Amino acid sequence: MMKNRWIQKTTISVVAIVALTGCGGSGGGTGKGMNGGGGSGSNIPYLKENHANYKEHGSTQTPAPVTDAAKKSITWTIDATTEEGAIKLQEHLAFMEEKLRNDKNPRGWDKLFLLEAYMKYNKYYTTLVERTGTTVVVSKNANTACAYEVILAHSDAVHGDFFARGKIEVDYSTRAEEIIASEACRSERSDLETYIAQRQKNR
Ligand code: HEM
Repeated sequence: MMKNRWIQKTTISVVAIVALTGCGGSGGGTGKGMNGGGGSGSNIPYLKENHANYKEHGSTQTPAPVTDAAKKSITWTIDATTEEGAIKLQEHLAFMEEKLRNDKNPRGWDKLFLLEAYMKYNKYYTTLVERTGTTVVVSKNANTACAYEVILAHSDAVHGDFFARGKIEVDYSTRAEEIIASEACRSERSDLETYIAQRQKNR
């Protein structure tokens, strides 16, 4: 009798520890850098389904990027309606950061996402993610004019389609072609075209 109760108690606490660890840290509510999420997947289906549950910090508006062309930086301050929502977004960013750092191509049919992968892998921009409770701050900093154009276009897609409409089917390849043809990308143009020719997948 005593032994069974002991086994029961031990099992619950192990499960509790695993559950806490699996859900992005020990419930402390803050996640620094890229590892706070601790989760595994891209969470794209969750983000698409819950797109309306994310707001611009302190408002009821759709999250919007704050851009600074002089600094080539983009900052997001996003409130999720739940801590789970904030953790899912943080995990999404950790997942994508890891993919891009490992020279992978999520959404490999879309030239804009290929350009972003190229810029991240070659360290032409950095991303910092910090979560405090239900608020996620994303800071992206580019070190070339071309990379800034790419992260700017990506942030437009995240704002105008992903968050505002939960729409993820739009192909941003035409926008990517315009960026490649722009003055900002003159010196990188042939490398970008070669990269896309080598990496683009069929939809
Ligand atoms: C459709 C499939 C999606 C793919 C392939 C994708 C991929 C990515 C990638 C590669 C990044 C950049 C990561 C970095 O710079 O380190 C990113 C950032 C981000 N994603 Fe997604 N994502 C998708 C859908 C979504 C959805 C549906 C949402 C929200 C509703 C979302 C919200 C964000 C946010 C807020 C950022 C950071 C801001 C930014 O990069 O400008 N994503 N995503």
